[in-house]
Amino acid sequence: MSIIKKLALVAGIGALMSSTAYAEGLSGKVIGFSQIGSESGWRAAETSVTKAEAERLGVDLKFADAQQKQENQIKALRGFIAQGVDAILIAPVVSTGWEEVLTEAKDAEIPVVLLDRGIDAPEDLYLTSVASDQVKEGRVAGEWLVGAVGDKDCKVVELQGTVGSSPAINRKQGFEEGIAAASNISIIRSQTGDFTRSKGKEVMEGFLKAEGGGAGICAVYAHNDDMAVGAIQAIKDAGLKPGTDILVVSIDAVPDIFSAMAAGEANATVELTPNMAGPAFAALDAYLNAGTMPEKFIITESKLYTPTDDPQGEYDRRKGLGY
Ligand code: AHR
Repeated sequence: MSIIKKLALVAGIGALMSSTAYAEGLSGKVIGFSQIGSESGWRAAETSVTKAEAERLGVDLKFADAQQKQENQIKALRGFIAQGVDAILIAPVVSTGWEEVLTEAKDAEIPVVLLDRGIDAPEDLYLTSVASDQVKEGRVAGEWLVGAVGDKDCKVVELQGTVGSSPAINRKQGFEEGIAAASNISIIRSQTGDFTRSKGKEVMEGFLKAEGGGAGICAVYAHNDDMAVGAIQAIKDAGLKPGTDILVVSIDAVPDIFSAMAAGEANATVELTPNMAGPAFAALDAYLNAGTMPEKFIITESKLYTPTDDPQGEYDRRKGLGY
């Protein structure tokens, strides 16, 4: 079974990938892909899946790694436009500042598909957006915590994603909504860990220090699993037990968080499929070959996983899928 088929199975989105295949397909089409970088295991998997899916479909994928910088993404988009590519995929690092370059793509009649993050720009500047409901992801995480702590007082520290990115903004809002009705739960510290494992560890070390070694911290909410894995290390280094002394809840469902869950060191994660390319290529196939306009927002699932969901099995199913 190919990597793409396995991922479709895991994410339950096989139907989305196969429902709109046109005879011409995308074979021979030149598609530019501006990727943010490789800040997380999830991002690495998205890159692997996109490349594998492009190869399977015969797409000539022009890949550009922006090293987390918006200016590099804008440069890459201008390069794709100058080459006259058939379409552009972009995972936008931050949500603002895209209007000018997307207008240039529109003027050149090159359809743009947003992957995994949203932008603040008029909707006619892109063909479609394939992403999760990031507010819902945060809300699911918050509601899980409400159920897990019951009436107990719970002081939460939050590791935010990249400043100005749509998942950081929306996952914060969603979590706050999820805990809003629980007056016993409060966020006492919140800082960016930039979606990376090393920053997550560093910021968590600061939180532990500032909170008297961590005794008063009941839970850490991380906007992605990589920061949670970094936080778990910091908690252990401080002599506390992650998953027991401090609850750990995060988003992505990468193999390493399931490994931590199997060891009793993580408590909950919300799945984000790395297969954004399947629905994106299907939309482009329909648009380029039949002029069919896709839905403006193609929303992927947000499933909660806890230790009752066979974390070792989930780890085994995901490892080797490009994470
Ligand atoms: O935009 C999706 C987020 O970006 C993922 O949750 C995170 O791991 C990544 O870096």
